[in-house]
Amino acid sequence: MIVADFIEVARMSELPDGTMKQVNLRGELIGLYRVGDTIYAMGDICTHEHAYLTDGEFEPEEMEVECPLHGSRFNIETGNVRILPATQPEPTYQVKVEGDVISVGSTNPRSV
Ligand code: FES
Repeated sequence: MIVADFIEVARMSELPDGTMKQVNLRGELIGLYRVGDTIYAMGDICTHEHAYLTDGEFEPEEMEVECPLHGSRFNIETGNVRILPATQPEPTYQVKVEGDVISVGSTNPRSV
């Protein structure tokens, strides 16, 4: 079993409910999404072509983000594609919130 190494990436106070933010996890660009008091972390570069999903539209009630370039939609919890043209899912990451501090696991348990 690989144990994730959690790295501090942002603060709850800079991510209001219903917003998203791009962070850099050791050179990897990740999108953080806040729904209520829960934070989700998912790869931020669209798997279709090169676009940042955090430049797109976040719909918290649908748990989806829409790519700004061609409109693919991804589930922020699972990384799965909901609407084409993207066909490959995004990686998702473990998140830990302690007080105001948001940390993301550097190992994606779904990819090992
Ligand atoms: S780059 Fe995201 S759908 Fe094409």
